[in-house]
Amino acid sequence: MSDRFNTIAGWTLFSGIVLLGLSAVSSRYYEGGKNERPEKMGFEIAGVVQEGEGGGKDATPFEAYLAKADIAKGEKAFAKCASCHTIDQGGAAGLGPNLWGTLGANVASHPFAYSDALKGKGGKWDWTSMSAWLENPAKYAPGTKMSFAGLSDPQERANLMVYLNSKSASPLPLPAVPEAPAAGAAPEAAAVVGDAAKGQKSFAKCAACHTITPGGANGIGPNLVGVFGEGIGQGRGGYAFSDALKGKGGTWDDATMDAWLTDPAKFAPGNKMTFAGLADAQERANIIAYLKSVK
Ligand code: HEC
Ligand code: HEC
Repeated sequence: MSDRFNTIAGWTLFSGIVLLGLSAVSSRYYEGGKNERPEKMGFEIAGVVQEGEGGGKDATPFEAYLAKADIAKGEKAFAKCASCHTIDQGGAAGLGPNLWGTLGANVASHPFAYSDALKGKGGKWDWTSMSAWLENPAKYAPGTKMSFAGLSDPQERANLMVYLNSKSASPLPLPAVPEAPAAGAAPEAAAVVGDAAKGQKSFAKCAACHTITPGGANGIGPNLVGVFGEGIGQGRGGYAFSDALKGKGGTWDDATMDAWLTDPAKFAPGNKMTFAGLADAQERANIIAYLKSVK
């Protein structure tokens, strides 16, 4: 194991100890009982980008994550905040302020001894500012006393924010998702260069339902050899497509395939591919490159 690994492990252990200390202190602020232990102990380490996370190349608008956010998952993720924050109406301030009704409210407006860093920020908590804050508190308000590394996963942030929004007398409406680029334009798909070899590996996620060898049998889904460039929901050795996909029209190109693999249920509502979709644009591009390569 490398030194870097040991350093990371050391910090993770250290953070865990700090967090344990904090929960011990903060438990005095609780009526008790409801306090859940975080699923994952320790903070994420700022600046360490996990391999395969794409290093910020993800072009998916944050609104799209909000649109498919899961409030129950957000409630679970709140375990990471609960050592310092209560969220129900009238909850006591602990190491951090009570968070009831925070989205939509002025920044640093609850009864709490905020840092000057956060007080000086001004403005309201909206979807954009809250996302930036939760992604990296220290970057959003340098000198803040919220000692929390941040949530780098946009879906986790979105889940948490939708949960936060529900804890309010006047929840904010969800922002609209910017229109996906028209078929043919697809700057997102075009900007990301796919790697067919990686795509072949990712295809493991599809292989339960699809063969992709020439002459391979149709299974739960159709055989996919040469599907790129062909009609959507057509042919495939007489595979029984749903009306939803058959009725779609058009051919499989970069844009249609990218949209389909992002969110099959949205691309063709009522279709029978029970697959949640791939949120990672790079992974989609890899699989598309692989699909193109198999003729
Ligand atoms: C280690 C303790 C700690 C943890 C963990 C923590 N916070 Fe905080 N939080 C604080 C403190 C302290 C402040 C006040 C910051 C300041 O004044 O600079 C704060 C402030 C905030 C604010 C601003 C509130 C306002 O009235 O403007 C929000 C929103 C917030 N936290 C959300 C969260 C969420 C969501 C999580 C979990 C993902 C979280 N915090 C985790 C300590 C914590
Ligand atoms: C749980 C099973 C399942 C999984 C997993 C799955 N698919 Fe499918 N797929 C289907 C079904 C069923 C259909 C037919 C949908 C319909 O007719 O509504 C389909 C249709 C398709 C089509 C359309 C074919 C055509 O000729 O129009 C493509 C392309 C496709 N899948 C690609 C993929 C890829 C790539 C993955 C992995 C990232 C994947 N699928 C994962 C079941 C699955």
